[in-house]
Amino acid sequence: MQKTHNCGELREQHIGQPVTLAGWVNRRRDQGGLIFIDLRDRWGITQVVVDEETAAEAHRVASSARNEYVLKIVGQVRKRPEGTENDELATGAIDVMAEQIDVLNASKTPPIYINQDGNEREVERMRYRYLDLRRPHMQHNIITRHKLVKFIRDYLDERQFIEIETPMLFKTTPEGARDFLVPSRLQPGKFYALPQSPQQLKQLLMVAGYERYFQIARCFRDEDLRGERQPEFTQLDLEMSFVEREDVIELNEALALALCDAIVPERTLLARPFPRLKYTEAMEKYGSDKPDLRYGLEAIDVTDIAGKSGFVVFNKNVEAGKKVKVICAPGLYRDQEAPEKALSGERLKKLMASLETLVKAEAGAKGLAWMALPLEESGEVKGPIGKFFTVEQKMALFEQTGAEPGDILLFTSDDDDIVYATVDKLRRHIAELLKLADPNVLAFCWVIDFPLFYWDEDNQRWDPSQHMFTAPMPEDLHYLDSDPGQARGTQYDLVCNGYEVGGGSIRLYQRELQEKIFPLIGQTMEHAKDQFGHILEAFEYGVPPHGGIAWGIDRLAMLFAGAPNIREVIAFPKTQSGGDVMAGAPSLPEPGQLEELFIASTAPLDDEDETDDD
Ligand code: AMO
Ligand code: AMP
Repeated sequence: MQKTHNCGELREQHIGQPVTLAGWVNRRRDQGGLIFIDLRDRWGITQVVVDEETAAEAHRVASSARNEYVLKIVGQVRKRPEGTENDELATGAIDVMAEQIDVLNASKTPPIYINQDGNEREVERMRYRYLDLRRPHMQHNIITRHKLVKFIRDYLDERQFIEIETPMLFKTTPEGARDFLVPSRLQPGKFYALPQSPQQLKQLLMVAGYERYFQIARCFRDEDLRGERQPEFTQLDLEMSFVEREDVIELNEALALALCDAIVPERTLLARPFPRLKYTEAMEKYGSDKPDLRYGLEAIDVTDIAGKSGFVVFNKNVEAGKKVKVICAPGLYRDQEAPEKALSGERLKKLMASLETLVKAEAGAKGLAWMALPLEESGEVKGPIGKFFTVEQKMALFEQTGAEPGDILLFTSDDDDIVYATVDKLRRHIAELLKLADPNVLAFCWVIDFPLFYWDEDNQRWDPSQHMFTAPMPEDLHYLDSDPGQARGTQYDLVCNGYEVGGGSIRLYQRELQEKIFPLIGQTMEHAKDQFGHILEAFEYGVPPHGGIAWGIDRLAMLFAGAPNIREVIAFPKTQSGGDVMAGAPSLPEPGQLEELFIASTAPLDDEDETDDD
């Protein structure tokens, strides 16, 4: 090794020892006769002192060194002079007196700062990702991810799971997104699909008798990208034989708890065991099947009271069978800087207008009625609909919602899907405004009892709410004949802090059940055989009851690292437009490549500029 120690390990016990360090110049301060270099490597920073009097040649080299030069430094550890210790640095009690310095490699002035977080645009970070990744917090993220995956592998190995690789070049595995296709040269005109997940293959491994499988699997989905979505991402994919829903949930919850204890012991878990929410309960209370439980802000049904009020919009909606729901935003009417005072009329108006714009644009709401409760007892309730409610009705509203002086009640009334979307948007937005979500807390929960199907209005048929190999809850089988919309699936989702971290189910493998369910979702047995013949055929040779789950590793790493999006925990992520701006992918094919693949080009072949990110 070209170094005897790393830049994060020297302490007082090393004083007097000769050492060789190697790393990058994080910062250099030239004080004439003395030059100070903060030398950085993956493990930390050590201050190096170069004295012109005792090490003239080293001093000459140090004078020419700049930020991000790669240096090798031979010297001796010494106690820092009294008063110059740095408590913020792990190595702050010592420094290294340089005797010899070699420039292993020079560096141009980096286009982004490494030693501080610039506020450069994200495309700049992506363009120079290898520099961005030098930043200590990025290294922390990537290392956290490594630890997470290593822990999972060890944990499952101890429990007799085996990791099995499955092909990347395969057939379509529908998970609800578009496939990435790969043309076959050897079979002109035919295409492989990159797996959206190893779903079918892991089920085939159960048929094959492996009983406990897992894989840290790369998945590919051609969908619109967001903060928690990438076109290629990583799953912990897992499948077990001879299990029921409870067995899979139990094992995965134990794994999640062990992971939290091992990787993020400093974080607080909201609850253990994890709470379980029924899908309908999650939707009614939080408007989402992936609610953030770090704060309340639950939607409260006030249909009864609102229906009897004098507000025509609510009267009509209630008559038409629609609900009226309220979220009580605690202290939202207070001036955040001076909570003993209420917002001025002007600021209140602006705030409410911004909330209304949000729910109209992003949830399809028609409006946002509200009531602000005065801070002093003699004060008036503010808001556009106060006048339509009698004093008694208002008192009943406040009682039911637990509203206190300074709170604002936000009303939403519409078809269920709009009410849910509005509640979800408002909860997330208000939690942010009022800083209600403690960043130190991890609030895991399970969401269960999903409907097996959704009604697809456009195609006039049922659609599987997860995928077509999800089994119904055994006690709901009778609904398949009478009322399919009532049937619950065996699906379970693992949710944390408002993100879906994982999802899975017990599988549908019995022929009689498939023959019932496939036609409901518009699949004839013939068509299913066409698409999934291999799996349906395999199911004729002795299938164990089985079920499993897949976790989004990127999302979990993001939550553990406290990062704002999954790009922060992926070494080389794609930008919002699906590109890699560093390497310039996707790119135009070389001349001849398309012909070789028997593909005629239809798109105009000109390079499009990478557009900006979110
Ligand atoms: P599902 O489609 O729910 O289930 O995916 C499982 C988990 O993968 C993560 N995830 C993603 N992460 C980043 N970018 C994406 N584009 C993306 N899409 C999904 C989520 C999600 O919870 N085969 C089934 C699992 C099973 O039934 O066993 C499946 O893939 O965290
Ligand atoms: P209007 O009588 O139309 O001025 O509406 C009075 C208030 O009710 C306004 O603040 C609207 O934004 C709000 N509002 C209108 N329709 C709805 C609805 N469906 N749900 C909630 N609030 C609404």
